[in-house]
Amino acid sequence: MVAEAKRMQGYGSDFIKEMFAAARNPEMISFAGGAPAPELYPLDAFRSASDKAFDLYGRTVMAYDGAYGVAQLRDFIATQWMPRAGISVSADNVLILSGSQQGIDYAARLYLDEGDTVIVEHPSYLGALNTFGALSAKYVSVAIDDHGMRMDALEDALKRHPEAKLIYTVPDFQNPTGITLATDRRRQMVQLADRYDVMIIEDSPYFEIRFDGAFPPAIKSFDDCGRVIYLGSFSKTLCPGIRLGWVIADDRLIERYRVLKEATDFQAGTVAQYQALTFLQDHPLDQHLGRSREVYRARRDAALTAIGQYFPSGVTHTRPSGGYFIWVEAPGVNATETVVYAMNDIGVAYVPGESFYATDPRVDTLRLSYSQMTEDKITEGIRRLGVLLGERCA
Ligand SMILES: Cc1ncc(COP(=O)(O)O)c(C=O)c1O
Repeated sequence: MVAEAKRMQGYGSDFIKEMFAAARNPEMISFAGGAPAPELYPLDAFRSASDKAFDLYGRTVMAYDGAYGVAQLRDFIATQWMPRAGISVSADNVLILSGSQQGIDYAARLYLDEGDTVIVEHPSYLGALNTFGALSAKYVSVAIDDHGMRMDALEDALKRHPEAKLIYTVPDFQNPTGITLATDRRRQMVQLADRYDVMIIEDSPYFEIRFDGAFPPAIKSFDDCGRVIYLGSFSKTLCPGIRLGWVIADDRLIERYRVLKEATDFQAGTVAQYQALTFLQDHPLDQHLGRSREVYRARRDAALTAIGQYFPSGVTHTRPSGGYFIWVEAPGVNATETVVYAMNDIGVAYVPGESFYATDPRVDTLRLSYSQMTEDKITEGIRRLGVLLGERCA
């Protein structure tokens, strides 16, 4: 057998894949998945928008378009979407990706040689860790609190690791903790990146899924010197099956992304881009997202109420204002071992927190996603989990 390239060892284990497969069992109350609720996909409206796109643009929809992406969609993102995050750019600074995951991969390829250092949150998004791991990156983890990455800890990490090239952050309703980075820290992060000469990847697929409070300005909105690579996605707002995301960056970086796009899959699918464009032109964002926000807020509330009622004292958790995730710390519990019992014995799935740490994993943590379960299932699932945690905490 031909030996695999060494980098394949960096992609992590199949544990999560196997767990997600088990969680797909319809009998399972699953807090494992990080995807939107399928019943919220705008099925009929999207089908009509798709027909309209073919009527309006004909065979153009089926042709190659080019690595930057469809011009009108880039323009839509620049003029209608990004100003909500305080980012003012033209379509020239937007490139359409095949999902925002690709944008993480490209940033890693662009900046990381083997053994180069990336600064990540502690804990961080598993998909990004897989990407960096495949390039044999070295990690420096920075502590977070209720307001996101701690800037004193970041500065300390930058001082101790002047070789660091990238800071990777999920500032809005972070996957996995649901925590949002405070506005003053966003400004500070850019200042620190500038002072210590490091790039920031701002990965924000959950930005629009906010159901409490005002939208904070993106980290990118404080960036005067081209240090921030902003990644957006249609996966959580429209549907993940469309596989569309985007990068916002300065002219030079967009050109590097263009080179990478041409070298990997040439361009994001033209059909999907015209479908998304036509749908978004006909369905104002807030109108389309209004129902999703209501549903997710009710699910978040059901989860928090049930946690308050059923989780043993000593267990702590986050209180997200949007997104899909609640992070739980259960001192004394090994959540990695417990998940097997949870799935087999009480029919409840979650993701053990251990998988989200680049360094110094904590086994007494877990991620609960409330996005895909109805309120009554959430209440029942948390009740069952509460009993199990009570037994294990003791
Ligand atoms: C933080 C984060 N970044 C990126 C992604 C990937 O999104 P996409 O479907 O746009 O590739 C996800 C998906 O769950 C995510 O949670």
